[in-house]
Amino acid sequence: MSQISFDNFAQAARRNHLSDTEIAGRYVFQAEAERLILPDVVAKLAIGPADRLLEIGCGPGNLLIPLAYLAATATGIDNEPAIARLRARAPLAENLEGLAGNFLDLDFGDRRFDKILIYSVLHYLASADEVLRFVDKALALCAPGGRILLGDLTNGDRKARFARSAEGARVRRQWEAQVAGAGGHAFDSLPADGQLVVINDELLLTLVRHCRGLGFEAHLLPQPANLPFGGSREDILIYCHTQPNGSL
Ligand SMILES: C[S@@+](CC[C@H](N)C(=O)[O-])C[C@H]1O[C@@H](n2cnc3c(N)ncnc32)[C@H](O)[C@@H]1O
Repeated sequence: MSQISFDNFAQAARRNHLSDTEIAGRYVFQAEAERLILPDVVAKLAIGPADRLLEIGCGPGNLLIPLAYLAATATGIDNEPAIARLRARAPLAENLEGLAGNFLDLDFGDRRFDKILIYSVLHYLASADEVLRFVDKALALCAPGGRILLGDLTNGDRKARFARSAEGARVRRQWEAQVAGAGGHAFDSLPADGQLVVINDELLLTLVRHCRGLGFEAHLLPQPANLPFGGSREDILIYCHTQPNGSL
């Protein structure tokens, strides 16, 4: 894990004047698009009332709090200030649990989860090896028949392809105007992180191949265009069974 980014997110979560959208690393103007993440995640993970849901890197709970209503239990993992904020936002949600710490360091014993969400997190890790370790640990926590969504994966190659399209050029102009109007990002005053993994086509295809090599079904999926970074990011959906369902 890149300690700089992890610490930056913790610092942001301590700043009471920031909105929860900003604490999750987004611009304020993305608050509406942030809400549109939810139906996409619910559909891809097929979240239902019997599910034990885990979100790794849940931030202040922008996704986890509403998802908790749909699941049997909802557990979130993140830095201590973010978890404090999660608990403060939903004090009466009895099925919602927050665990403070670095996911890679936490011991889950024999606990298992039916649905695991890792959304907008992997690009804050330090290297491709760490991404694989992170995913392997999530795979080990997934109950048979469960699913894992590696969501909102940055992909420099896809971003470059999108930027070359007419739609990409239009979205870029709109983005630059919105950023200029926003008067800065909430993390601008925090240390820049130069230790981050580079995510590209090759790493994403390696991840898919890695999961399949372990006997899981894994698929690269697009995001709807109206999500916060729908034009340039994508998802990997993993089915946690070793025997595929369905017919040949
Ligand atoms: C961009 S935010 C996304 C928050 C939330 N998933 C969402 O989409 O609204 C990334 C979060 O991942 C957390 N994170 C990064 N590495 C982590 C790790 N190793 N263990 C736990 N959380 C981590 C950060 O602290 C941060 O809150």
